[in-house]
Amino acid sequence: MRQPVVMGNWKLNGSKEMVKDLIEGLKNELNGVEGVDVAIAPPVMYLAQAEALLADSNIILGAQNVDVNAQGAFTGDISPAMLKEFGASHIIIGHSERREYHNESDEFVAKKFGFLKESGLTPVFCIGESEAQNEAGETEAVCARQVDAVINALGVEALEGAIIAYEPIWAIGTGKAATAEDAQRIHATIRAHIAEKNADVAAKVVIQYGGSVKPENAASYFAQPDIDGALVGGASLDAASFAAIAKAAAEAKKA
Ligand code: PGA
Repeated sequence: MRQPVVMGNWKLNGSKEMVKDLIEGLKNELNGVEGVDVAIAPPVMYLAQAEALLADSNIILGAQNVDVNAQGAFTGDISPAMLKEFGASHIIIGHSERREYHNESDEFVAKKFGFLKESGLTPVFCIGESEAQNEAGETEAVCARQVDAVINALGVEALEGAIIAYEPIWAIGTGKAATAEDAQRIHATIRAHIAEKNADVAAKVVIQYGGSVKPENAASYFAQPDIDGALVGGASLDAASFAAIAKAAAEAKKA
């Protein structure tokens, strides 16, 4: 059985005060909740503060990006070792916002994936199609291409212990979420695609849905057999909303 993972992607939001309030709120809301891995990815500026606040908590610390270099003349970049030193283990890579605004290619994202694995960190590997690709019926092909970039560079076994986040780009931050049935269909296709290479890896890999997940729609996703949690943007900035989503995952996957 796959343990669901619900992760909050805070994006470019935060202040010392907000980090403190949100993490304290989450610790209260999630006290005693079992059966779900809960992770948060604040901006890297706040990792040290978050690490200290989470010292007595099961909430997993993550980050939103990583570089492909270990050290040296790479202005503005952050290495896996640095993230690790501040207790961050689950690192988002390939988010559509980075692919779009920073021109990150499939190959570049695959490189990050390999570097995280090598460093003993967990990639939270985002894939997903644009609205135009969706309307052209290319969703499955786009997701397969993005997953293949990792499989071709690193072998299918690299997906072991990693997390895939299927996030249709048109659903991110728009309030226009994919239906649970559509998401399930794509998740099953992604899993089947991986199973062609290695059935065991496919059966074990966690595939999250992301894109306008809210407390109101969360349970409908988690009721689907191939949806193993969520990557949450907007709703992760509110402790009660994010905790409600995490609890819905724990509840749905209990059986
Ligand atoms: P959203 O963002 O929940 O605000 O749609 C999801 C994401 O970008 O990870």
